[in-house]
Amino acid sequence: ATMLPLLLLLLAMAHGLDAIPTLRKPNLTDSLLGGRTTASTFVLEQPRCVFTNLRDDTVIWLVVALPEAVANFSNEVKPGGPGREFQKFPNSTLAYMTLNTTILNYPCDNSRDITVLRVGSETSCAKDASRPTCNGPLPGPGPYQVKFLALDGSEPVAQTEWSNLIFLRKAQPPSSIPLMTSGHSAGMIALTAILSILFAILLAGLVATLLWGSEAGGVSSTFSKPEVVSVRRYNTHHVYDQPAARL
Ligand SMILES: *[C@@H]1O[C@H](CO)[C@@H](O)[C@H](O)[C@H]1NC(C)=O
Ligand SMILES: *[C@@H]1O[C@H](CO)[C@@H](O)[C@H](O)[C@H]1NC(C)=O
Ligand SMILES: *[C@@H]1O[C@H](CO)[C@@H](O)[C@H](O)[C@H]1NC(C)=O
Ligand SMILES: *[C@@H]1O[C@H](CO)[C@@H](O)[C@H](O)[C@H]1NC(C)=O
Repeated sequence: ATMLPLLLLLLAMAHGLDAIPTLRKPNLTDSLLGGRTTASTFVLEQPRCVFTNLRDDTVIWLVVALPEAVANFSNEVKPGGPGREFQKFPNSTLAYMTLNTTILNYPCDNSRDITVLRVGSETSCAKDASRPTCNGPLPGPGPYQVKFLALDGSEPVAQTEWSNLIFLRKAQPPSSIPLMTSGHSAGMIALTAILSILFAILLAGLVATLLWGSEAGGVSSTFSKPEVVSVRRYNTHHVYDQPAARL
């Protein structure tokens, strides 16, 4: 009974610590170029002209979280540290931080350059525990929620609101690591298709050979017949005539 007020106080304090400027939430891009979502990636608008009045060396991070991690999310946890590792998401950590870049890369002038971010595009570091801030493929269809967090050194100085829920496509990516069983069946389907095609080609070849053999029989006999005969003769001699030859 005495614990409850204490807990509430701690919660209030935790919220107090989060009292940094909170800016408009990230959006999926409007551009359909390259697809807004795939089975393991999604494309966000860069947070251009969102963070203002911050030092030039402020680093903007993207936080990707499961919705259940959002209510209780702490900005104080170090990017890439325990609780923020891509490789452990979503099993033992509910959020990770990635795509860190200085605020200078998100200028207000977006007349040139690419102004989107593809989340989940980096496959090379997906299993590399030494790169916990990897922008690796998302492990499932979601939903996810994201926000941008500005850190000055290790101190949070501004953030955006959390995005709406982001759902990915359910189609299985061919090279997806976590989807073992579905990857398997896709492989089986491909293999079956290839084998069917090979079998069809073989069959067609066989039929063509037979047809060619019967139609061109007159012409080919000069070449094939002596050969067949000589082979038969050799075999016959070798296998069956040996006892006779010894006699
Ligand atoms: C982002 O979403 C807000 C509403 O949530 C909308 O007003 C705004 O135009 C969107 N921006 C882009 C770039 O889609
Ligand atoms: C919220 O965070 C606190 C401390 O970080 C933790 O003890 C608690 O279990 C969390 N609650 C939920 C619902 O995750
Ligand atoms: C998460 O757990 C599942 C089931 O236990 C396992 O198959 C999967 O490999 C794990 N993923 C990661 C990234 O550890
Ligand atoms: C992003 O953070 C990682 C880990 O802290 C660091 O090694 C890397 O240099 C940073 N990249 C940029 C562009 O700031």
